[in-house]
Amino acid sequence: MYLAVVILLLCRLSFEASSVPIGSRSILRAIRDNSSADLPDAAVDLNATNFDYVLKDSPASFAVVEFFAHWCPACRNYKSHYEKVARLFNGPDAVHPGTIFMTRVDCALKINTKLCDRFSVSHYPMLLWGTPSKFASGGSEPKQDGEIRKIDDGRTAERLLNWINKQMGSSFGLNDEKYQHEDLHSNYSDPGQIARAIYDVEEATSAAFEIILEHKMVKPGNRASLIRFLQLLVAHHPSKRCRKGSAEILVNFDDLCPSGMLIDNTDKTLATNEMAALGNFQICGKEVPRGYWIFCRGSRKDTRGFSCGLWVLLHAVSVRIEDTESHTAFTTICDFIHNFFICEECRQHFYDMCSSVSTPFNKTRDLALWLWGIHNKVNGRLRKEEASLETGDPKFPKIIWPPKPLCPSCYLSWGHENSTNGQIDWDQDEVFKFLVGYYGKTLVSVYKKKGLNRNRRDEIAMTDDMVGATNAVVVPVGAAVAIVVASCAFGALACFWRSRQKSRKTRRNWS
Ligand SMILES: Cc1cc2nc3c(=O)[nH]c(=O)nc-3n(C[C@H](O)[C@H](O)[C@H](O)COP(=O)(O)OP(=O)(O)OC[C@H]3O[C@@H](n4cnc5c(N)ncnc54)[C@H](O)[C@@H]3O)c2cc1C
Ligand SMILES: *[C@@H]1O[C@H](CO)[C@@H](O)[C@H](O)[C@H]1NC(C)=O
Ligand SMILES: *[C@@H]1O[C@H](CO)[C@@H](O)[C@H](O)[C@H]1NC(C)=O
Ligand SMILES: *[C@@H]1O[C@H](CO)[C@@H](O)[C@H](O)[C@H]1NC(C)=O
Ligand SMILES: *[C@@H]1O[C@H](CO)[C@@H](O)[C@H](O)[C@H]1NC(C)=O
Ligand SMILES: *[C@@H]1O[C@H](CO)[C@@H](O)[C@H](O)[C@H]1NC(C)=O
Repeated sequence: MYLAVVILLLCRLSFEASSVPIGSRSILRAIRDNSSADLPDAAVDLNATNFDYVLKDSPASFAVVEFFAHWCPACRNYKSHYEKVARLFNGPDAVHPGTIFMTRVDCALKINTKLCDRFSVSHYPMLLWGTPSKFASGGSEPKQDGEIRKIDDGRTAERLLNWINKQMGSSFGLNDEKYQHEDLHSNYSDPGQIARAIYDVEEATSAAFEIILEHKMVKPGNRASLIRFLQLLVAHHPSKRCRKGSAEILVNFDDLCPSGMLIDNTDKTLATNEMAALGNFQICGKEVPRGYWIFCRGSRKDTRGFSCGLWVLLHAVSVRIEDTESHTAFTTICDFIHNFFICEECRQHFYDMCSSVSTPFNKTRDLALWLWGIHNKVNGRLRKEEASLETGDPKFPKIIWPPKPLCPSCYLSWGHENSTNGQIDWDQDEVFKFLVGYYGKTLVSVYKKKGLNRNRRDEIAMTDDMVGATNAVVVPVGAAVAIVVASCAFGALACFWRSRQKSRKTRRNWS
């Protein structure tokens, strides 16, 4: 019993570690945070070039845009008020991330003239409120009751937040602390909530690869397993930009890192900074990782997050594969979790469940239902553990899934949930149908609506990636040389990153 507790704690510790964004961004933030005198702006500066696509891409439910002019003294005085509110909502350190996206546009810059005209900006500073997608596609005169509204009383931070609270029926406060009064609720009967999980799937994908890098997990013996998993992602990841990023890695994998080069590097002289720099490769594009979770956000800092996002990724892949791929996909997922999931207890459990499968899968349905079944097995086990250890998230208790309100037809009409032994009479055809709808169409519905599958947007993000990679990495000069010399020893992804650094100018566009 005691041993089990220790193992469980170890497992949770690693979750906690992995839910913290790893990489140069966290390092940069840590450095910045010390010089609190000049905190970086929390509100995001937008201009005519990026306004539409940044807003379209925002996972937030609402956006505020401040139109200002840099020469206007009133605007300069207002900035600290606006920033106070923006800090609550923007960035990885936000108290309420993913709720409201706070931005500003400088109308005194020539390139923004048209943009400011589009929103009929009549004075500075002028604040508008609406959903990000309405801003991205919208314009014209903001009306008092239109989809984009003028914020008529935002003169101080308090009043702005009041206005927002009235609008949303919320009770945000300027002194809110992270996780203090988390008003998260899990509405198990709302199928629409999964749509926002697409952002978490991206976050989890990106976290998974950062962890692989950070912990130097690629070894000669598991290299093939990683390649196969990447192949699965290229074809079936629900997010297009992750498919693209996975393909980029894959296309270059063999050239960059012949298997002979994967030596186990035990040289500990490279400091965390350099490791962070290597982790700067962003498999899902420039905007990911964002540093926070949305659908998978826990009400405590050490619950949910990465492991939740990983489950959703696996389910999403399982309903997307073809019948003929089902058994390969099964072994690929099993091997990936076994080799690369940082939670020791989990990978062992998972592998045991994989090993007990004796007949090959022939259909998408076989794999999807198997994954659903073992996830419920894990839920059942954790429900008991969490009840006795109180390690669970009180707002998100483990349940046998899907609960009846979410999928009434999954339950055979004469069946009932027997709470004493957890036996439920499932209609498996209906469960499969439900999984396909939930993790298939509904999961990507936000993306479809926002048109994020368009190519042009992706290209912009990819080009920005290239720029970001050099600008964002801050390492001592001497260390930079060391990275180039030693990076291939970190494994394939590091090699890939390094050679991209070298070949940036000559790189042809992959599409
Ligand atoms: C492969 C894997 C193995 C794991 N093994 C362990 C382990 O051995 N020990 C341990 O302590 N933790 C393990 N975890 C972590 C644990 O399962 C949870 O991910 C974590 O406790 C967070 O729980 P959560 O409430 O966010 O919901 P999660 O269980 O992470 O589920 C995420 C979401 O998936 C949906 N969902 C829930 N059940 C199902 C289902 N049956 N089918 C389809 N969708 C479902 C729900 O919407 C839920 O919110 C494992 C995670 C993974 C990815
Ligand atoms: C940041 O500040 C803390 C205490 O305020 C200090 O212990 C730490 O060394 C500082 N870190 C850096 C990088 O200056
Ligand atoms: C617009 O903003 C982006 C991001 O801050 C910046 O890189 C770009 O140079 C800006 N464009 C112009 C024309 O100022
Ligand atoms: C949960 O979601 C369902 C379906 O969208 C909705 O009808 C119900 O009112 C929601 N319940 C709560 C408490 O929000
Ligand atoms: C797949 O087909 C084979 C051969 O027809 C069969 O033996 C096996 O049981 C099938 N697998 C499943 C999961 O039904
Ligand atoms: C659970 O199932 C057993 C046997 O089928 C039955 O006797 C018992 O009443 C059930 N309990 C509930 C709460 O339905």
